[in-house]
Amino acid sequence: MTVASLEIVVAADLDFGIGKENTLPWRIPEDMKFFQSLTTGSGKNAIIVGRKTWDSIPEKRRPLKNRINVVLTRDAAWTAPEGVIVCDSLEKALEKLSTIDHEHTFIIGGAQIYAEALKHPLLKTIHLTRIMQEFDCDVHFPGVDDSFALVAVSDTNEENGVEFRFQRYEKKSSL
Ligand SMILES: NC(=O)c1ccc[n+]([C@@H]2O[C@H](COP(=O)([O-])OP(=O)(O)OC[C@H]3O[C@@H](n4cnc5c(N)ncnc54)[C@H](OP(=O)(O)O)[C@@H]3O)[C@@H](O)[C@H]2O)c1
Repeated sequence: MTVASLEIVVAADLDFGIGKENTLPWRIPEDMKFFQSLTTGSGKNAIIVGRKTWDSIPEKRRPLKNRINVVLTRDAAWTAPEGVIVCDSLEKALEKLSTIDHEHTFIIGGAQIYAEALKHPLLKTIHLTRIMQEFDCDVHFPGVDDSFALVAVSDTNEENGVEFRFQRYEKKSSL
């Protein structure tokens, strides 16, 4: 068994900012719902997350339920709750996931993990929630290069005074 493809899920502002002081600088419940629904799917998906983003998830919400949770850290002493997989590289995470029956593999951040995933040959899809203003973030998504095609865009929505739209990009070579 192998991991067939990787998918990034990210919310980024107009400057591709994704976070500030290890948290999200906006509150968009509809985007949280989208994230939960996409990554949970039929209950057989995996998420891969950086240790700092893991720390930013409220304790009562982690591990993310009904998903296989994989945390990346280089700290050999780092421990996670039972059932959470801990790996010291993306490749080892993919190797481990290839031994576990699952459907989609989502990279859910943060910036360091996105940067690595964007270079990975298995990356096929980017689910980008584009937030239509700037939030003075201290971490950024590297951006979407022209090897990806924009294949779907939602209408512009607004919540808590913030406009956003859902966009999906696919690797051109896989279209
Ligand atoms: N807007 C969004 O969609 C979104 C999504 C996720 C996160 N965020 C935001 O992003 C920010 C966090 O991002 P970040 O870049 O600072 O941190 P991060 O990517 O979440 O985590 C970085 C940590 O992951 C580990 N790591 C990184 N690369 C690794 C590798 N190749 N192998 C093994 N371990 C590796 C290291 O952990 P150790 O230090 O333990 O070794 C590193 O310190 C927060 O502000 C968060 O709110 C935003």
